[in-house]
Amino acid sequence: MKQIAGIAELRDQVEELRRNGRRIGVVPTMGALHEGHLSLVRIARDRSDVVIMTIFVNPTQFAPTEDFASYPRDLQRDADLARSAGADILFVPSDKEVYPQPYQTYVNVEQLTTVLEGKSRPTHFRGVTTVVAKLLNMTMPHIAVFGQKDAQQAAVIRQMAKDLNFPVEIIVGPIVREADGLAMSSRNAYLSGEERAQSPVLSRSIQRAEVLIRGGERESSVIIGDMKTMISAQSLASIDYISVAEYATLRELARLAPGLTVLVSLAVRFGKTRLIDNTIVKVP
Ligand code: PAJ
Repeated sequence: MKQIAGIAELRDQVEELRRNGRRIGVVPTMGALHEGHLSLVRIARDRSDVVIMTIFVNPTQFAPTEDFASYPRDLQRDADLARSAGADILFVPSDKEVYPQPYQTYVNVEQLTTVLEGKSRPTHFRGVTTVVAKLLNMTMPHIAVFGQKDAQQAAVIRQMAKDLNFPVEIIVGPIVREADGLAMSSRNAYLSGEERAQSPVLSRSIQRAEVLIRGGERESSVIIGDMKTMISAQSLASIDYISVAEYATLRELARLAPGLTVLVSLAVRFGKTRLIDNTIVKVP
């Protein structure tokens, strides 16, 4: 695995790869790698000849109150994991090169970013789409792989790629979970022992929603009410939102219609740590 920091050096490499007819897959990350990230590398490997993993803790997607400064960074550990999962190139650009001053250009997807995560984090997706647009321009991939863990992020990126005619296929990989169901996340490391012990309630409540929908429940308020009861029973959990929405538009639904694909999603705080989880279900 080759580690590259400079944008010009990366550009030389990808231009040569493309000249030689190689199919390039990219997996953008912020590092602090876990099995969720590595599963995306494996998906990219299956569908391309050369896999580029990018690691960049993107300042523009963090609000001033969020954890940009304390976000876990361990490049040596990440490089070992990326290599073992089969990445060919690890691209780790610097803040200075990604955002040379005076930086002035942002990419903003409109409707999809105003709901769910966008309500609690109003500037977040503008930072995500800006950096992903830049990373796609730097890596010039044929495919880019993202995780369903961040279902709204994947939808927003897909919309951006379509609207701006990026010549890239966006692929979404399934959520990788810990043995007790907790969705893997770099932020799980922030949880105290007691918070970690209570956190599997999130995936349990998501599973409960699946069971209800598959069993014929059509009222979102019933599904959300059940999930709320489960999560509120954990003393350290504080619900940010629970939502049942149409997957295609992310619009919240009061009633579920047969045949519709819905996104059940939530954000819950355990102390200072905000966790998200979701599932996509087809209404029978
Ligand atoms: P990060 O949180 O590091 O996640 C990188 C990719 O890994 C994202 O596509 C995310 O959805 C995926 N991922 C995280 N946890 C996962 C899990 N448990 N199972 C499957 N996939 C998982 O998301 C970002 O970084 C950034 O916003 C980024 C897209 C890199 C832009 O800065």
